[in-house]
Amino acid sequence: MAMAGPVPVQSTPLPKGIDIKPRRMKFAYESSADHWAGDNPVLTRFMEALSMLFPEGERFFVESVKHYRDKIVDPVLEKQVVAFAAQEGMHAAEHHKYNLRAAGPLTDRFEGIAGQLRHPFARRVLSPMNRLAITVALEHFTAIMADELLRDPSYTDLMDPEHAKLWLWHAVEETEHKAVAFDVYRAVGGGYLRRAVVMQITTFLFALASVRLLAGLLAKDGKRPAPRSFANFLDVAFGSPGFFRKVFPSWLDYFRPDFHPWQKDNSDLIAKWKARYAAS
Ligand SMILES: [Fe+2]
Ligand SMILES: [Fe+2]
Repeated sequence: MAMAGPVPVQSTPLPKGIDIKPRRMKFAYESSADHWAGDNPVLTRFMEALSMLFPEGERFFVESVKHYRDKIVDPVLEKQVVAFAAQEGMHAAEHHKYNLRAAGPLTDRFEGIAGQLRHPFARRVLSPMNRLAITVALEHFTAIMADELLRDPSYTDLMDPEHAKLWLWHAVEETEHKAVAFDVYRAVGGGYLRRAVVMQITTFLFALASVRLLAGLLAKDGKRPAPRSFANFLDVAFGSPGFFRKVFPSWLDYFRPDFHPWQKDNSDLIAKWKARYAAS
């Protein structure tokens, strides 16, 4: 059926220089040290725990957004959804390889924790709008963590350079597409209350899954890390300033009724990464 009237605008103009662009990358982290983050087993396994959430999580994001494909009529947003799906597809594949290095045959079991989101039971109990709201919440999560990782080099300075390369690449692409799921949610009538409530539940479950995976990965090592490794990890994550304490104000931004991911224009961080990446 032909549509009457002009096509509604559903997308948000991206800052200058921002282009949602899937990049094929090559990483050579296979031969890196086992404790590649700060020579600290707890910090390393925590990063690996986050990585375990990505493959299934990102497939879930793509499915949640694509469910509303027919409701997206703005050709700009339509193109952004395709690019978003391509980026997340690449992240899922790359992090799966990364996870195999970290956990070998246990990878599927660890990845299955986020895979619960895609389980037929979850599909039955979570409406498409709730699945999209979970996606928007987790995309905000990845966006604010990406911002901090790109902004403060002290974190990637702790990492083996090839690992840092993977995390920075992912952070850049998360920043580029940070508003796509949000714009789709808004375009299909997603409201404030659902967004705010779902963010709180999702944050709790995200923290729980991360801790569970960290415990699983440490148990796989079969060796209890030294107390100072735990203390150092807690300091990097929650100390003063501490990664998660620094991103907390950005987490709170999400609860403003007029919030939009690009209200915080951090496109300069992408430009810096591009310049550095091109130089290397
Ligand atoms: Fe991603
Ligand atoms: Fe993403």
